[in-house]
Amino acid sequence: MESKVRLFGHAVHQMLVVFPLGLLGASVVFDLLALVGGYSLMAVVAYYLILAGVIGGLLAAPFGAIDWLAIPAGTRAKSVGALHAGGNVIVLVAFAGSAWLRYAEPAVPPVLALVLSFGGAALSLVTAWLGGELVDRMGVGVSDGAHLNAPSSLRHRSVAAERPTR
Ligand code: HEM
Repeated sequence: MESKVRLFGHAVHQMLVVFPLGLLGASVVFDLLALVGGYSLMAVVAYYLILAGVIGGLLAAPFGAIDWLAIPAGTRAKSVGALHAGGNVIVLVAFAGSAWLRYAEPAVPPVLALVLSFGGAALSLVTAWLGGELVDRMGVGVSDGAHLNAPSSLRHRSVAAERPTR
């Protein structure tokens, strides 16, 4: 199923998800550096990475929702997409809660803030896998009729008509 929101022929959601995954994932690394190395500056960096990651997730989510709404009901993709979406809402709420708890003193995050962000990061691994299952296994957000000799997305809006003679 082709993505409903594409830029230069590629799914916008798949472009944008690198930001929440990268930034929120990096915040855990910086928190660990702060915990293990005692560098409170690293915790401050983690705080701003969380803020940027949550904004990135809020930007990516609507494009995922548009594609999810286009998935036919009753398919495995629809239910996997719902799990993916619901899980990612929990991920964003957990990280937003963590940022809120850190707001007063980002250099010294309370234990609950770390529990929320580490837990959110663990859940994001599961939801990212579900996202990959949607794309790689069920072809959501992949050009209809995609094949190894498909012409450039910049030249041709659809591939189906271009099916190769294998
Ligand atoms: C923090 C928020 C989110 C993150 C980090 C995220 C992450 C991902 C990832 C990693 C993929 C697989 C991309 C690939 O393999 O190329 C994906 C695909 C997908 N996600 Fe999300 N997602 C988020 C929110 C949502 C939401 C809220 C929805 C729907 C309501 C959604 C619907 C989809 C759909 C339908 C796909 C299949 C590919 C596509 O349509 O482009 N995602 N997502």
